Amino acid sequence: MLATAATRADAPPAFEQSRWTAPGSDYALLSAQPATCLAIDDARVRSGRALFATPTLLGGQAAKAGLSCASCHINGRGNPHFQLAGVSDAPGTADVTNSFFSAARGNARFDPVAIPDLAMPGKVARDPAARALEPFIRTLIVEEFGGEEPTPAMLAAIAAYVRAIGPCQPDRSQARRLDDQFRAIDDGTAAAVLMIGREDRAGVRLSIAAVRHQLALISERYAGTGFAGDRAALLAASRELQAIGERENAGALLRRWKTGFDGGLAKRLRRDEDHSLYNPNRLARALRRSAPRRQ
Ligand code: HEC
Repeated sequence: MLATAATRADAPPAFEQSRWTAPGSDYALLSAQPATCLAIDDARVRSGRALFATPTLLGGQAAKAGLSCASCHINGRGNPHFQLAGVSDAPGTADVTNSFFSAARGNARFDPVAIPDLAMPGKVARDPAARALEPFIRTLIVEEFGGEEPTPAMLAAIAAYVRAIGPCQPDRSQARRLDDQFRAIDDGTAAAVLMIGREDRAGVRLSIAAVRHQLALISERYAGTGFAGDRAALLAASRELQAIGERENAGALLRRWKTGFDGGLAKRLRRDEDHSLYNPNRLARALRRSAPRRQ
């Protein structure tokens, strides 16, 4: 995905999220997002937030499409613009028991429902004593989405995050910024450190995939020939991370990677943010250019 973005220098931008966005809603989805205020904000909750936004947590078709928990539950909330053929009817709905996602669970009925806002009380009890949330999330991952069995540390982190999701006062939407991706990269790094501490190899790999996915999201926003160098650097950073995930001393290597990223590429990206497609005016213009391609 990063590779595609890096080679198509002057092609109209292609946003992964457009694949599951109702026609005409790309600008709304890509320029704004619901805000979330976490009840608890510690390393475990931040790790859960990283995994929640990582497509490879889900298996099969969902992961291939780049879909994560956060695609439907943006910042743990809803997504009124979500629309995927065969999964949604009206925008904002999804059928998570659809065989599109998993042959095992597909119930052969098309019954999409509104994507719930996880900041609000719902069907699944959040109280740890009820022991309902972890099994629910496990079933979602393994049976609904055909993902690999999550490790106990992964499940604990995701559940801790879901429990912490809350609305802000006042409840509002906020602009999407490069800082969203930087924060998510911090989350993914925190998750990797936590998983290294648990000697959870699958957790380390998933955390690294979380960071790499965020690098790909940045790359989409730095479109055009002028940013070819930044895209190449993002791709190189992503490849370097992939190699780190396989190494014994991943913790030390990851710290070195992060220091290098923060001190170099991240600064350049921040300096150029206003010229990138994080700038809502440029985003609107770019989407107008790419609109005919979606027909
Ligand atoms: C394709 C969109 C989609 C994806 C991806 C998705 N969800 Fe959901 N989620 C839904 C829908 C729709 C429901 C409501 C299901 C129902 O009511 O039967 C739901 C329900 C839930 C609930 C229960 C809310 C309640 O009522 O208490 C939780 C918790 C949840 N999702 C967490 C997750 C997690 C964690 C992931 C990733 C492993 C995830 N979701 C991925 C669409 C999605």
